Amino acid sequence: MKFRIEDKLLSVYHVHLVLISLIVCISVMYYFNGPSWCEGLKYLYPIPITLESLHSGKGLDLMDLKPINTENVYGTKHNPLHVCSTKRLDILCVVKSSPQNIGRRLAIRESWGKLASKGTNKLIFSLGDTKLITLQNIIENEAERFSDILQFNFQDAYRNLTVKLINNVRWTSMFCSQAKFVAFIDDDIAINFRNLQNFLRNLSSSDTDLLYTGYVVYGHGISPSRDESKHNLSWDEYKYPCFPSYVSGAITITSGRTLKLFDAAIPYVKPFFVDDVYLGVVALKLGITLSPHNNHMFDHDGSRLHEYSNLISSNQGPTFSWEVYELTR
Ligand SMILES: *[C@@H]1O[C@H](CO)[C@@H](O)[C@H](O)[C@H]1NC(C)=O
Ligand SMILES: *[C@@H]1O[C@H](CO)[C@@H](O)[C@H](O)[C@H]1NC(C)=O
Ligand SMILES: *[C@@H]1O[C@H](CO)[C@@H](O)[C@H](O)[C@H]1NC(C)=O
Repeated sequence: MKFRIEDKLLSVYHVHLVLISLIVCISVMYYFNGPSWCEGLKYLYPIPITLESLHSGKGLDLMDLKPINTENVYGTKHNPLHVCSTKRLDILCVVKSSPQNIGRRLAIRESWGKLASKGTNKLIFSLGDTKLITLQNIIENEAERFSDILQFNFQDAYRNLTVKLINNVRWTSMFCSQAKFVAFIDDDIAINFRNLQNFLRNLSSSDTDLLYTGYVVYGHGISPSRDESKHNLSWDEYKYPCFPSYVSGAITITSGRTLKLFDAAIPYVKPFFVDDVYLGVVALKLGITLSPHNNHMFDHDGSRLHEYSNLISSNQGPTFSWEVYELTR
């Protein structure tokens, strides 16, 4: 009798020990395998299927899957359709710009933008709406004078960046589907356009097909910030502890085919406001792998373009763009 009670106690003790060890083990695995666990978002976010079947060109309707992200498509105030009217379009640069950044747009037009809008390449600026009437009047003039303004009907705001991304993808794939490459670029980035061109020319056709490249940020060690900063992401908006790897929004380059796949997938991927990470999740769901092999060409450390002859982009712009123009014309 006495022995039996002790046996029982012992086994309860063992069960607890096993349970606790299991929890510790899982926590440790979770901690060290965060990034690879995060690859599981491919199946989890938020509809439990991958979107790889979109590659076949067929829709998902057959699978009885309802889109969950359709409210974010807006009409336009300025629609520069003429940039899409040429049969051949090699590189389309879509520069994400806030309405008030008039000076940055001017600097880009006078520098690397000259090359980027010549011949078979085109450049447009993507803006949201502004409530400021005087500012909107300036944009009206800009649009008339330069014909390079794409302006959407949603409010331009930091927390609307993904709305801008979704509309840029939609617009480009709808009207400029002939574009071989599309580059989404921030308006404070300086570009060595010749290097960008050469980089894209040098790619093999297998690399080009599903291209999704730029400055790759590895998911490893990056987790959503939940604090009070302007980058914070609430648990409601994004309920996962990690980000997958993604291409920085400073400059994101895709092939025309990748862009069309993004456009087809976005209705099935719940948006959150961090636009570049969101596109990373869309790519992951589509099984499109990042092309990370040229990170040294996309600088984030404040180097100026002329300091390294092989740089494609630098965050020391666009005030430095003038000297870049001298370098590359
Ligand atoms: C985003 O745009 C919508 C539509 O214009 C607007 O209602 C909303 O307030 C904007 N969000 C922010 C954070 O400004
Ligand atoms: C393109 O390839 C050529 C020849 O292999 C090489 O010299 C050049 O550095 C490459 N340029 C870029 C931008 O990758
Ligand atoms: C995020 O930060 C803003 C201030 O920038 C704050 O108003 C908001 O409550 C924060 N959200 C969360 C989830 O912490």
